Amino acid sequence: MKTRILGKTGFKVSEIGLGCWQLGNDFGDLSEQDAQAILDQAHTSNISFWDTADVYGSGLSETRIGNWLKQNNQSASKPIVITKVGRDAGLYPDKYSKQKVKLNLESSIKRLQVEALDLVQLHCVPPDILFAGELLSWMEEFQQQGLIKHFGASVETIEEAEFCLTQSNIASLQIIFNIFRQDATKYLLKQAAENQVGIIARLPLASGLLSGKMSADRQFSQNDHRNYNKDGDFFNVGETFNGLALHTGVDLANELKASLPGHLNLHQVAMRWILDQPEVTSIIAGTTQQAQVIANAQISDLAQLPADLHKTLANFYQTKVKQHIRGQI
Ligand SMILES: NC(=O)c1ccc[n+]([C@@H]2O[C@H](COP(=O)([O-])OP(=O)(O)OC[C@H]3O[C@@H](n4cnc5c(N)ncnc54)[C@H](OP(=O)(O)O)[C@@H]3O)[C@@H](O)[C@H]2O)c1
Repeated sequence: MKTRILGKTGFKVSEIGLGCWQLGNDFGDLSEQDAQAILDQAHTSNISFWDTADVYGSGLSETRIGNWLKQNNQSASKPIVITKVGRDAGLYPDKYSKQKVKLNLESSIKRLQVEALDLVQLHCVPPDILFAGELLSWMEEFQQQGLIKHFGASVETIEEAEFCLTQSNIASLQIIFNIFRQDATKYLLKQAAENQVGIIARLPLASGLLSGKMSADRQFSQNDHRNYNKDGDFFNVGETFNGLALHTGVDLANELKASLPGHLNLHQVAMRWILDQPEVTSIIAGTTQQAQVIANAQISDLAQLPADLHKTLANFYQTKVKQHIRGQI
């Protein structure tokens, strides 16, 4: 597993990370045992960068990671665990206060069973709250107080991301970034590198569409966001299937699959394309299966994609995909 440096933090992290939303049971139910097996597998596969949030399963994802950290406290290599604050019902969308944010961070510290948080990301807070800047100044105070080591932001749109890149105190930026959501290559990546902001790519597989195994008639359980949020009824539509209607996304994925070189499958192309962008620090693919963790980790060993394939993918996105994405990019 190759590593990269995460922006201003200096943390050396695996270029394939682990998305831990799934550990909060928002992709169907996962037992404690299965959740611990995923974390064990990530550790064994040298995936040393884990992304969670205080709200994933109302704290369940953080608690499970905390249990793993406690069980493995003798391990020579510890993962960097990054979490988020800002979407808890006590804060979102307009009840933010310094005291309440601090209390939430202290709760994350307890659940994760650590002394200080490695990195906290503002979690898709409303744009006007983000742009006002107060939250970022509170984060600076929490950093000085030793509650958090570093902070960054997870955002929905290019506009929010561009704002974050003008803030000198932000260490990392988490964006939706995949072969069906390529705009950051044009607007963000270069500036992020110049400002020493680490880019964390979420939804690398567009919620599984880009695994190459999704079908339009797949049924999702009631507590899977790919069921209840498929049209953006509960949160930003872009977070589910990248903003694509399931049948459209499956059709596009199948069409793209047919134009790939024989030795690479869609999953490999989708993940490797992200790693081919040197400004990206890590890809946080989420999963509920150990075999998927292994397959994701293996992408780090693949060769870069050929230049003509990069051209094909850029053209496919611009001419076929972008027009179908619902929600603001
Ligand atoms: N606002 C935010 O900050 C925010 C929002 C969303 C996500 N995130 C973070 O980003 C992470 C990743 O996003 P995501 O999980 O929504 O999207 P994703 O990584 O694009 O998709 C995850 C899904 O892809 C499938 N998959 C994963 N690895 C696979 C493999 N090797 N082969 C085949 N299928 C595979 C699994 O679905 P199947 O069930 O179909 O197998 C899995 O649940 C989350 O876990 C979370 O940590 C943050």
